Amino acid sequence: MSQPLYLTTSILYPNGDPHLGHALELVQTDFLARYYRQFTDRPVRFQTGLDEHGLKVKRTAEKAGKTAEAFVAEKAPIFQKLADTLHISYDRFIRTSETDHIQMAQALWNRCLANGDIYKKTYRAWYNIKQEEFLGMADEVADPSVFGVDAQFLELIEEENYFFAQSKYTQPVLELIKSGAYKIWPENRALEMSNFAEQKGLQDISISRDIAKLAWGVPVPHDETQVMYVWYDALTNYLTGAGTVENGEIVPDQFWPAELHCVGKDIARFHALLWPAMLLSAGLATPRGLLIHGMMLTDGKAMSKSLGNVVDPFAITEEFGVDALRWYFLAEIPTTGDGDFTMERLGEVYASDLANDYGNLVSRVHTMCRKYCEGRVPQVSAEQVDNLEKAIVEEKWQEYHAAVGEKKLHESLKAAHALIVFSNRRIEEQKPWVMAKEGKQEELNELLYELLEIIRTVTVMVTPAIPSTAERVMKDVFPPDSTSPQWGALQPGAPLGAEQVILFPRRDAA
Ligand code: MSP
Repeated sequence: MSQPLYLTTSILYPNGDPHLGHALELVQTDFLARYYRQFTDRPVRFQTGLDEHGLKVKRTAEKAGKTAEAFVAEKAPIFQKLADTLHISYDRFIRTSETDHIQMAQALWNRCLANGDIYKKTYRAWYNIKQEEFLGMADEVADPSVFGVDAQFLELIEEENYFFAQSKYTQPVLELIKSGAYKIWPENRALEMSNFAEQKGLQDISISRDIAKLAWGVPVPHDETQVMYVWYDALTNYLTGAGTVENGEIVPDQFWPAELHCVGKDIARFHALLWPAMLLSAGLATPRGLLIHGMMLTDGKAMSKSLGNVVDPFAITEEFGVDALRWYFLAEIPTTGDGDFTMERLGEVYASDLANDYGNLVSRVHTMCRKYCEGRVPQVSAEQVDNLEKAIVEEKWQEYHAAVGEKKLHESLKAAHALIVFSNRRIEEQKPWVMAKEGKQEELNELLYELLEIIRTVTVMVTPAIPSTAERVMKDVFPPDSTSPQWGALQPGAPLGAEQVILFPRRDAA
């Protein structure tokens, strides 16, 4: 059996409403999940979900006059609706308040404890509530302004908590990253992570809180006065999705270790360093890959409630359609770079890439086949099929797959888009309507067959990116079972869809 493949997004804090940054991560990871299902025979599992515990969620709930439990119960369906609206093909939408997850976090804790990596300590540390992150020990840093964290998110924690001996794992974690056993994309982030670990060494960190200060978390096993630090709990969700706990023991299933965790750059360190250290401590296999995306900006600025520039993904999908937003995330934004979003740019991309280039090509070629070839796949011989422009298609297939391998999803879609542009240009140059007028049916058949075959190829390529559009093209234009990536799979004479297909209506005309 082919090696199973487990993909995850990070799990989102449901402390507000879902925004465009969340949507970007869901869509990028979904592209990969769909790609691997479509092009490999590896069984795929895809998990996303919510990180429900911690101080940040607790505080937001308090402000809303609700218990944390009631607050997340209200928010969870909204986040799940986002995933469903965006056609995210997840297998599990996990919530960290679920029982199997709590058991897994406790089982992992017990393993780290049994291996001598958890101990108690009294300390004073600066804490960033927004990132749920320890910034430094208060004895070493008297003035927390050096951290550059907004005062409203800064807290001094003074407690006796459990500590995780992360420092023991500096070298093994570095080895995983440097050897590529834990491969990080992009390369410069891998370097950033290993430099960080190398320069400072991994520090032991507090992994629990006193319930008198924060009771909203996974209970620490055998100590009812403490709950787990939210990141220790949250990272474990990946394991919950790929294993069970039996008689207190962790039993990973065939999907562990994860093939790829997809996260934003702001939380890269937790995934690159703390997570493998936790797994090494527990004697479990470490994930094979980490894809780090950039931040979504609006008009060059970080999205924030105070700037009032937070874009609501639901509103965009309503206005432009789900696939327009998916295309924007995947084709317009470099996978691992920061990405800018404006409605204006989305409008431009919609009009150019989708309506004019792809939509128009499909509709023109389909219409010509209906007009000049009796609504059927044009008649060509096997020899002619072989002599057509298949070299360019093969080259683009190579570019497409290589780009996905390098996690440059935008480059893979560029390969598809180049074929669209090529085809539109060919129509302009070859003028099939003139061929028809002059009765050059054989030439016309060759050209239209080639164009139809390229459209089919492009549609197979963009299926993981814009699945509902691709499905429509397959259903409304092509004969059944036309999804093979093989050149020449279309059978001459097979009937095409009878109705005109408009994929992306012009918005000015809409
Ligand atoms: N709950 C943690 C993750 C725990 S994973 C074990 C968390 N949640 S979050 O809701 O703040 O962020 C979830 C994901 O969305 C992260 O990968 C983060 O990088 C991403 N984004 C949050 N804001 C973003 C943008 N403005 N742009 C792009 N991605 C952003 O962190």
